[in-house]
Amino acid sequence: MEKKTAKSIQICMGSACHLKGAPLIAQAFQAELDKRNSAGIHVELGGAFCQSQCVDGVVVRINGETYTHVTAADVPALVDVCLQEG
Ligand code: FES
Repeated sequence: MEKKTAKSIQICMGSACHLKGAPLIAQAFQAELDKRNSAGIHVELGGAFCQSQCVDGVVVRINGETYTHVTAADVPALVDVCLQEG
C-alpha cells in the first residue's frame, strides 16, 4: 500500500487579493509548475474564496499552510516548499 499526500496551492481570489495581483500570481504558479514538470507529482492549483486576511494579501495556501504578502517573486520558493513537504 502506498500513501500519497495531496499537494495543493490555493490562491485567494477575493476582491482585495485580486486587486493586489492574485491573477498574475496564479499565472506565475502555473508557469513555474509547467517549468518544473515534476514527473509523478501532482499539484492541485486553484483559487480560494476570501481567507479573511485581506490586509495581508495576497494570501496563498500551500499544502494547507497559509502564506501572506505573496508576490510573484516568491513563487519559485513557494513551489519548492510545496514539492518538498510530505
Ligand atoms: S481577499 Fe484575499 S484574504 Fe480577503
